[in-house]
Amino acid sequence: MKLSVIGAGYVGLTTAACLAQIGHDVFCSESDTEKLAKLQHGVMPLFEPHLEDVIHAVRKAGRLCFGSTEEAIAWGDAIFICVGTPPLPNGDADLSAIEGVARSIAKNASGYRLVIEKSTVPVQTGGQLQKHLSVHNKNGLSYDVASNPEFLREGSSVEDFLHPDRIVIGVDSPRAEGLLRQIYEPIINQRFTCPIHSDCPKRKEPVFLATNTNSAEIIKHASNSFLAMKISFINMVANLCEVVGADVTEVAKGMGLDPRIGPAFLNPGIGFGGFCFPKDVQAFIRIAEKSGCDFSLLREVEKINQTRVEHFIEKIRKELWVVRGKKIAVWGLAFKPNTDDVRFAPSIALIKALLAEGALIRAYDPEAIEKARPILPDVTYCADAYQAAEGADAVLLLTEWEEFRKIDWSRLATVVERPLIIDGRNVLSREDVSSNGFHYIGIGGVSATPQVVQSLIAA
Ligand code: UDX
Repeated sequence: MKLSVIGAGYVGLTTAACLAQIGHDVFCSESDTEKLAKLQHGVMPLFEPHLEDVIHAVRKAGRLCFGSTEEAIAWGDAIFICVGTPPLPNGDADLSAIEGVARSIAKNASGYRLVIEKSTVPVQTGGQLQKHLSVHNKNGLSYDVASNPEFLREGSSVEDFLHPDRIVIGVDSPRAEGLLRQIYEPIINQRFTCPIHSDCPKRKEPVFLATNTNSAEIIKHASNSFLAMKISFINMVANLCEVVGADVTEVAKGMGLDPRIGPAFLNPGIGFGGFCFPKDVQAFIRIAEKSGCDFSLLREVEKINQTRVEHFIEKIRKELWVVRGKKIAVWGLAFKPNTDDVRFAPSIALIKALLAEGALIRAYDPEAIEKARPILPDVTYCADAYQAAEGADAVLLLTEWEEFRKIDWSRLATVVERPLIIDGRNVLSREDVSSNGFHYIGIGGVSATPQVVQSLIAA
């Protein structure tokens, strides 16, 4: 099918590439001319595992091209709107880009179009889209509007798109439902050439959930807010564990064994970040309160999340006594591993606070340094974890990149000033760390003194 994707951010690029991967002829547009030029010359504007290879392959196969919004509107029978909906200062989602696209479609398109909102939008946006398309309809366009929220995670977006747990559509006509089933048929039946797993085993077929537009729109906000709530819940419990001498990793394990709770998203740490959870929780609260509904529960989720950075800094102060003039190594800048994205990353707020207290920061991240540099100019950026740790009074782990689990501790011991690791993601093995002479401090009552010291005490 001829499909158009408007907007080439994480969601748009992944959607365009994967729809072409499963066999459709896709036209993807980007209004940022610099970014568009990069894409037309095969240069990726973001780091995302597998995405560059998929884009390269489907372009070579002639199933994906990049161009202007007008060209995209003229091309596809179905148009996926994947433009940004960033937060406004009051927390509402900014829908101006979506409105702009709706107006262009209404003014430029003729014949039939299925207009699909894939960006994360507040409930009832589909209704507004319907109205706007009819108000500006200049060429007798016939159309349907559908909602098709995305659940992909940065760092695994291609896998999440091609092997989803569910595909949710919000439609108000059988025609729209039929078209979306057709578009997703290869994924529904898991019959396509998988760019990730050469021996891609017959994967679990996703559930195809067709509901009305308003419900589909709420499914997205509710899902993200629920996951954020789970994270704030375990962070809240982690604080208690620290005070009463319990171990949050054991608590999370015990909770997660109950299938009604499940182990996912029970990892305590320095808080959730990224371009989705913080803004979606805020937008969901705003929608609810404007509708007269009490969402104070989510306000608490936000509040707990906003205290994580200060709580972590308190641990640093407790160990370093005076922070001013101390050399602090930072491992990880991205809001999570396998992405170069630092938007709303807790690491940014944390480093800013430490710099304000006069600390000297040396930082390393496998992918996100260039995205962090303009935001944190007073940081010394390093080529690897060991360079960052040179002369360090403390090493902070802020993003759980795989490579930090494979650190050569004896080598690290030769470069640091003080063997102190403060782990903001509880991903390091306290046994490994302490058995190599390091003092380990984690989240939620997880800590270990250096075994060298322990054996001395025992002697
Ligand atoms: C999220 C949703 O997972 C995805 O379904 C949706 O489409 C977009 O938003 P993403 O923002 O890429 O995806 O990241 P995710 O993996 O969900 O992590 C979000 C934040 O929560 C990160 O900062 C991560 O470090 C943090 N997190 C996650 C925790 O602190 N603890 C956990 O147990 C899980």
